[in-house]
Amino acid sequence: MSKSLLSINDLSKQEILDLIEFAKNFKNDDGSFKKENLFPDKTVANVFCEPSTRTKSSFEIAAKNLGCSVIGFDASSSSIEKGESIYETIDALGLMGVDLCVLRHPESVIRELNEYMPEMIFVNGGEGSISHPTQALIDLMTIIDNKGSIDDLNIVIVGDLDHSRVTSSFVEGISNFSFNSLTFCGHPSMCSKYLDPALGKYEPDLDLAVQDADVIITLRIQYERFEEELNLDLDDYKHAYELTSERVEQARGDVIVMHPGPVNYIEISESVYQSDNSVIRNQVANGVAIRMAVLARYLSS
Ligand code: CP
Repeated sequence: MSKSLLSINDLSKQEILDLIEFAKNFKNDDGSFKKENLFPDKTVANVFCEPSTRTKSSFEIAAKNLGCSVIGFDASSSSIEKGESIYETIDALGLMGVDLCVLRHPESVIRELNEYMPEMIFVNGGEGSISHPTQALIDLMTIIDNKGSIDDLNIVIVGDLDHSRVTSSFVEGISNFSFNSLTFCGHPSMCSKYLDPALGKYEPDLDLAVQDADVIITLRIQYERFEEELNLDLDDYKHAYELTSERVEQARGDVIVMHPGPVNYIEISESVYQSDNSVIRNQVANGVAIRMAVLARYLSS
């Protein structure tokens, strides 16, 4: 295992499965998480230069559950606001004794930082539109939890795929497994990266895409990443791309519906979010378990 987790491609299929199995050990039967004082001498910094609820909080809870000290670094009230670069910022944290940095950043800076600071362990907490490896581990874990395995599944991803680091890391991660089909669905202006049949099938019609689906992953429109104003009639968009109960009925009876969050109720209806098919809250909880497994593995190596 390399010193840092920068991309899901850093992990072999066996390492992915081992991390998912390891994560299960941190969950109690009642859904709570084990608290084990395994790393009392380690310090984790959560450096988030973009907003986050799930990733930031779950890394913090995970690190505390493992006995680490945690710095909840707030970029907006740091010296980054005074013009300091991310390199000097993280170098300063390293000099203060931080062992592992969870970094969320709008740009691709994590690889250079990882080379520049050989003593610091980095875990990618979200890199622009490029990657979000721990979310991919959560999503694979949630599918395996609910379906037993990934083999033979029909998987659909619908929404703003072009801006979605969740999609790119999921596609990289799932390429290790023998699923039956992977279908990309969404407005043509949001799916231009997913037209290559080598990746999967692009089906712009959601009613057709969900036929026989075992897993449907829904994604919000990432308004914050559009460089030009999005000229889109939201009613038309919802009509075409909202996952509704009627559409879920077209999928397999035991289909699971996923969403990495945050949910906007444009891409998915409230009734689907709350339905028995939805495992979205399960994904959030798996976030703590996966991040405990990732932190424990990388702090030990
Ligand atoms: N899924 C995800 O990364 O959520 P947050 O932006 O809330 O961390």
